[in-house]
Parts: sequence; C-alpha cells; structure tokens
Amino acid sequence: MKIFLTGASGYIGRAVAEGLRRRGHRVSGLVRTPAKAKALAAREIEPVVGDMRQPKGWERPARNADVRIHCAVEYGADYEKLDRGAVEALLAFGGRLLYTSGVWQYGPGGPFVESSAGAPLMPWRSEHEKLVLAASGVVLRPGCVYGGAGGLTGLWFQGAVEHKAAPIVGDGANRWAVVHLEDLACLYALAVEGEPAGEILNGVDASRFTVREMAEAASRAAGAGGAVSALSFADAEKRYGGMAHGLALDQRVDASKAARLLGWNPRFNGFPPDADAFFAAWNASR
Ligand SMILES: NC(=O)c1ccc[n+]([C@@H]2O[C@H](COP(=O)([O-])OP(=O)(O)OC[C@H]3O[C@@H](n4cnc5c(N)ncnc54)[C@H](OP(=O)(O)O)[C@@H]3O)[C@@H](O)[C@H]2O)c1
Repeated sequence: MKIFLTGASGYIGRAVAEGLRRRGHRVSGLVRTPAKAKALAAREIEPVVGDMRQPKGWERPARNADVRIHCAVEYGADYEKLDRGAVEALLAFGGRLLYTSGVWQYGPGGPFVESSAGAPLMPWRSEHEKLVLAASGVVLRPGCVYGGAGGLTGLWFQGAVEHKAAPIVGDGANRWAVVHLEDLACLYALAVEGEPAGEILNGVDASRFTVREMAEAASRAAGAGGAVSALSFADAEKRYGGMAHGLALDQRVDASKAARLLGWNPRFNGFPPDADAFFAAWNASR
C-alpha cells in the first residue's frame, strides 16, 4: 500500500514508517529539514519536506496515498490548533486516516477499554478523535512508549546521568500503561493492513511495573545505582508543565481489542528487564 505519514522524523513516526517499509509498503513521510529528508531516504522512505502549518505543501503526496498516518506533534502554544489543522487537512485529502492519540485520554483509574469514558487529560484531543472516527478513521491510543531513543523514559536516563537520580512524581507507587516502540510500530502496521474502520485501538503491553521500579531500573542502567528523586506534584508542574499530570497518572489500560481484531501480540515485557539495552539506545541516540 501507499502510505503518507506526518512526523516521520519523530520518536513514534520514524518507527512506524520504518516498520511499514520493512513490510513492503511504499512510505512517504513529512519532515521539516533537508538533513532529516536525507536520513529518511537512506531508509527507503520518500521524504516530503514541509510543515504541518502549510498543508498545501504536502497535499499531493497525502492525496496519492491509500492511507495517511498522523504522528506529528508540536508541543507549544499552538499544540491544539496545529493538530486540528493537520487532522482536518488529512481528512480533506481523502482516504483512510490513522490518528495518534494516547492513553492519557482515559485519565486515572481503569481498567479502561476503548469504550470507557475516562477523564481526558487533553479534552480537545477527544474532539479530534471524534472527527477521525466520524470519517471511519482509526484512533490509536499508545501507552507511554519505551525503547529506542526513548520518549518519557529518557527523562529517567537524563536525570540519572546528569543529576545521579531518576526523577519521579510522588512516591512512584503509580503504574503507567506502557508499550515498546517496536510493538507499537507493529500495531500501526496491522491497523494499516487489517483495515479496521471507525475504531479506537489501545496500544499497551501487559507489563505492570510501578513507576518507581522502572525509574530505579533506569537509574541502575545509567550508573546511578538505582537512585531516584521524588518530586512533589507542584515541583513537577514547575519543571514539566501540564505533562506532570501524565507523569503522575496511575492507570490500567486493556489492549485485548487490538489482539482480537488484528491479532496484535506485544513481544516486549516491560521496561525493567531490558533497561540496560534501553539506556544504551538512549545514550547512542543523543
Ligand atoms: N512518546 C510517547 O510516549 C507517546 C505516547 C502516547 C501518545 N503519544 C503521541 O504520539 C504523537 C507523537 O509523539 P512522539 O513522541 O513521536 O513525538 P516527537 O518525537 O516529538 O515527534 C514529533 C514529530 O512531529 C514533527 N513536527 C513537529 N512540529 C511540526 C510541524 N510544525 N510540521 C511538521 N512536523 C512537525 C517533528 O519533526 P522534527 O523532527 O522536525 O522536530 C517530529 O517528527 C503525539 O501526538 C503524542 O501525544 C506519544
């Protein structure tokens, strides 16, 4: 199939693009700089240099694709507006759309299945999800992603390397819903190939480590002996802004729908068992 993807240089987008290419699909990806375009081309992914802010610039490759995948995000004052603009443009360009949301849409508690009403940390994102679902698109809700260059898990490694302790919010007895980057990329590929329509799909693995267990493993792997620094919520909010709410979440999310509909079967068993490999990958990606 022909796929067009935004955020092809990002943490999730790059893995998704590469995963699809490995399965034989023709993939084109939006990037913002010639250097990132070159890196994509080296992975057999056709680069499209442009910006979410100017959809006209990538209309043609988006229209030409069988499936569009939205993985770009720009955190900042325009976060919501840019996401809305990209979703509306991708829908207007026609065809199927896979939209990247996240398990933070459920808020605390659980176990949550896709039909659960939660307390979204970003209520505006629910509106974008509705646009996608109304157009028979697919909404993917990944857990906190680990592996490779690392997303949120990079905060632990960075803290351990720079300050000899991995930062956590509160006592760390909370549990996140998580997923390995490659398992997630596999879920996107199955969602492209299986052609579900108008569905939300959770993407989390079955691991249930506490945040403290994960942060301690990260700290050990990074040479800080398992030390963590527990931030109060107020201090975390000062440091991370609104993201502190996500870091403090204690939630449980069920991904059996993706197994049932698409045969998705996550291979990784959570963060601590392979923390040394994840540290090496994070370190090499810096
Ligand atoms: N990471 C996680 O643990 C996680 C978990 C659940 C859900 N999610 C969701 O997944 C999505 C992707 O997250 P991520 O972690 O992969 O983010 P990321 O690593 O920050 O990647 C963001 C991507 O968007 C691109 N981008 C930013 N502004 C752009 C613009 N104006 N025009 C075009 N491209 C632009 C970036 O390009 P540059 O390389 O040029 O900066 C990059 O490719 C987000 O919606 C996030 O909420 C993430």
